[in-house]
Amino acid sequence: MFSSNDLTLEAAKKFDREDKLKDFREKFNFPKDENGKELLYFTGHSLGLMPKQTQDYLDHELNAWANLGVEGHFKGKFPWMPYHEFLTEKMATIVGGKPSEVVVMNSLTVNLHLMLTSFYRPTKERFKILIENNTFPSDKYAVDSQARFHGHDPSEAIVQFDPQSHDMVVSDEEIEKTILENKDSLALIMLGNVNYLSGQRFNFEKIVKLAHDNNIMVGFNLAHGAGNIELKLHDWNVDFAVWCSYKYLNSGPGGIAGCFVHEDHGHDANIPRFEGWWGHKKESRFKMPPTFEPIGGAETWQLSNPPIFQLASLRSSLDLFSEAGISNLQEKSRHLTSYFKFLINQKCKGRFQVMTPEDCGAMICVNTGEHGKNLVDDFMNKGVIADFREPNILRAAPVSMYNSYEDVYRFVEIMEKH
Ligand SMILES: Cc1ncc(COP(=O)(O)O)c(C=O)c1O
Repeated sequence: MFSSNDLTLEAAKKFDREDKLKDFREKFNFPKDENGKELLYFTGHSLGLMPKQTQDYLDHELNAWANLGVEGHFKGKFPWMPYHEFLTEKMATIVGGKPSEVVVMNSLTVNLHLMLTSFYRPTKERFKILIENNTFPSDKYAVDSQARFHGHDPSEAIVQFDPQSHDMVVSDEEIEKTILENKDSLALIMLGNVNYLSGQRFNFEKIVKLAHDNNIMVGFNLAHGAGNIELKLHDWNVDFAVWCSYKYLNSGPGGIAGCFVHEDHGHDANIPRFEGWWGHKKESRFKMPPTFEPIGGAETWQLSNPPIFQLASLRSSLDLFSEAGISNLQEKSRHLTSYFKFLINQKCKGRFQVMTPEDCGAMICVNTGEHGKNLVDDFMNKGVIADFREPNILRAAPVSMYNSYEDVYRFVEIMEKH
């Protein structure tokens, strides 16, 4: 895709001139150093940047509160009572679900537990959960505690892949082998997609098919996938998924999370679920009946009335996603990420090794060999924000919504000189 002609700053600037999304960069606030110089930002996989318009979206709700008080639930341009519905369609487009399968609520780990309550229903024979080898700690705590909650010992109930190489990437054969070896005892497969440490993207469709052929439920944690990679949760028959919105979805620290429940399950009365008034039928919710009647679909899993300021912040960002177009963002992302890998491979050969396989989304994980955390501190001193995960992994994401080719070029130039 790239040639030696693309190794110059001029080439990077040319890619930027040709980029049809180039104007979106201006719509974001970039952190600055103490002299007011903009930093190169490569941690959109951890906390996405703040869209400038988010201030107005939040001000709008603060003004509604100031001017309308409780009436803000019903009056104004965006009444709070149905506010989460203003986000549903755009979020559903991003994850490839039907609007009735998607809801924005709570935070990621809370949603994961709500989903495990419904979809991890172990029996004496089928009680295991398959997770990836390098699981994000909170996800591991969640599945361990769910296994214990159901009376199982996590050391027996939780199964992990065994990568054959040191770089943490798991082969398709290993995935298939692990599923088939445990096919009669697995109740659930629960994978982070994209994996937070290797950047590996698992093949959703293949895994779901193999799992369903063997009566195993499948859920995905899309913390690193939502707003990053192409997702077709409905078509792939994923049973459930959860994700946060503060990474690629730019909703701000601790932003409100998302949840997908496939329509095959959204109306199934046999699925156990915790209940709260926001999951009750909208028509009769305020008649305050003592018995729960489900809305149906993913919204049924809602418990509380949602935090409007968080929804407003996410709504701002989702509006930018629909303005840019998800397929345009993904097309640029594939090109920009390949360019980043190409430059590292060409300019830092033998010193920094890209671990992330091809076509895995924006985050690149780099094995830094002997380097420790002081590597990213040093990058910071040179004007780059990237991040580090033990033992020696540099993670950096060129985000197609706001990063430029020149950003990528300048970062690799700093890596090259290190
Ligand atoms: C893969 C993954 N799982 C779980 C979490 C925890 O998310 P939260 O604190 O929003 O529940 C994160 C946060 O970065 C994550 O990356």
